[in-house]
Amino acid sequence: MVPMTKIDTSVPHSARIWNYWLGGKDNYPVDEAAGNAYTAVFPGIVTVARGSRAFLGRSIRYLVEEAGVRQFLDVGTGLPTVDNTHEVAQRLAPESRIVYVDNDPLVLAHARALLTSTPEGVTAYEDLSLYAPDSILEAAGRTLDLDRPTALILSGILGHVDGYDRARDLVQALLSGLPAGSYLSINDGSRGTDPAYEAAQDAYNETGAVPYFLRPVTQIEGYFDGLDLVDPGIVSVPLWRPTKDTATPTPIGQHGGLGRKV
Ligand SMILES: C[S@@+](CC[C@H](N)C(=O)[O-])C[C@H]1O[C@@H](n2cnc3c(N)ncnc32)[C@H](O)[C@@H]1O
Repeated sequence: MVPMTKIDTSVPHSARIWNYWLGGKDNYPVDEAAGNAYTAVFPGIVTVARGSRAFLGRSIRYLVEEAGVRQFLDVGTGLPTVDNTHEVAQRLAPESRIVYVDNDPLVLAHARALLTSTPEGVTAYEDLSLYAPDSILEAAGRTLDLDRPTALILSGILGHVDGYDRARDLVQALLSGLPAGSYLSINDGSRGTDPAYEAAQDAYNETGAVPYFLRPVTQIEGYFDGLDLVDPGIVSVPLWRPTKDTATPTPIGQHGGLGRKV
């Protein structure tokens, strides 16, 4: 168990505020207040958070069913919610192996809920930072066979990296440890869709929380340079392979897609 002293309840935290918008209970009054201040300016953030999780689920389904991937490295996992990466993957392929990585003490405290693997597969949790890609690869290699194709999942985390070039370098560093045939799944907040979104994000970034930078879609596309994009490419996430029973998908300021390492 993580000592409560490591959990800072005086400033909002990304994982907790995201949990609040997703309808979860693992958050503190400071997160609820910041979440409500955000929705007062941009109510659409709740749709963005849910659209991002829905994309994550569809992309895992594609990776398992269409691409045959059985290994997942999910960095910036977030607090457990419905349909976590291992649940979607192992429902379809029980032998799937998943390594979760996050650096938030509350996520660590809840990690047990992420470690409910099928007997055939495995899930592991590593308390590490995205800023230490070599350590992530070393730790992942204890659970995954990194000579076999692996999906790197970066869902709603790259916006936390201050500096686009740095974020790109971190993506490249992680991908460099994975073999050809591996996949990159990214979805991240995008700039240029709604001024209210940008205003709410700018205000959030002043709260003392780790800031999150909305990026132009061209920069999100840039994370995939050198990879083969899976159709339909990098799009607003509700438009990425919507299921047949989805109502007409409406674009939101969250862009992403899948690329394959060649
Ligand atoms: C917006 S949440 C996204 C959670 C989940 N991936 C999802 O899509 O629902 C961002 C997550 O990234 C984590 N995070 C932020 N900076 C990080 C870092 N440097 N290293 C590891 N995790 C980080 C936060 O703790 C949080 O859980």
